[in-house]
Amino acid sequence: MDWGMKNRLARIIRPETGRTVMLAVDHGYFLGPTSRLEEPRKTIEPLISYADALMPTRGVLRTSVDPNTSTPIVLRVSGGTSVIGPSLADEGITTPMEEAVRLNVVGVALSIFVGTEHEHQTLLSLSQLVTEGQKYGMPVLAVTAVGKELEKRDARYLSLCCRIAAELGANVVKTYYCDGFETVTKGCPVPCVVAGGPKLNTEMDAFELTYGAIQNGAVGVDMGRNIWQSPHPVAMIRAIRHIVHENATPKQALELFESIKNG
Ligand code: 5RP
Repeated sequence: MDWGMKNRLARIIRPETGRTVMLAVDHGYFLGPTSRLEEPRKTIEPLISYADALMPTRGVLRTSVDPNTSTPIVLRVSGGTSVIGPSLADEGITTPMEEAVRLNVVGVALSIFVGTEHEHQTLLSLSQLVTEGQKYGMPVLAVTAVGKELEKRDARYLSLCCRIAAELGANVVKTYYCDGFETVTKGCPVPCVVAGGPKLNTEMDAFELTYGAIQNGAVGVDMGRNIWQSPHPVAMIRAIRHIVHENATPKQALELFESIKNG
């Protein structure tokens, strides 16, 4: 692996722990001004220094992220659909590699939609991105997206998606936590991070998801709504970091969350 690729990957997955807490703020690319991300700058500013990497689109990066930040950026480069359109799976590449390089990002992210009528185009987009990424030393993160079909999130389906993403050359795969998650990570020869998915009922649910993912082979999270839709987003991201980087249990994470929230 070339130096540039290794260096960028080391800025996403922290070498000290081999883990990462990525903050996902790309949801607007198909959801519009989703709850608690209506004004991206206000959501991002208090949280960015606690994230190992931030995942926005180019529009939110340019308008809403301070260019003096030292937090590395993994840029969402796929899209072209909306939540009210005919199919969320009908994505293409929205931002060329040259622009990602100009924006000085450390990785690019796109979604694949395995098992949908658009699987072929999204998998070829992944391959194309990987080929370009290899030219520029740019890691590619593949998101095993499920669109509105949240029930698809089981080990059999996610194992298939993650393995295909890795076979096509993704450097990191972002997927969902599920029962039997160890079969997903075992079958995927590149690092996996998990999304949080829609906001869970309690903080403890998010801590248990994170802990379960780490215990079963994930290198971290790329989490959005369960952090910034919390009434206490800073306490939330710090508690998630406690699990990911310090092997805290969900109970210890909750104690930290409560102390920051009340402090
Ligand atoms: C959408 C995405 C989101 O970034 C991802 O779902 C992570 O956010 P959340 O934790 O809110 O699910 O990739 O396709």
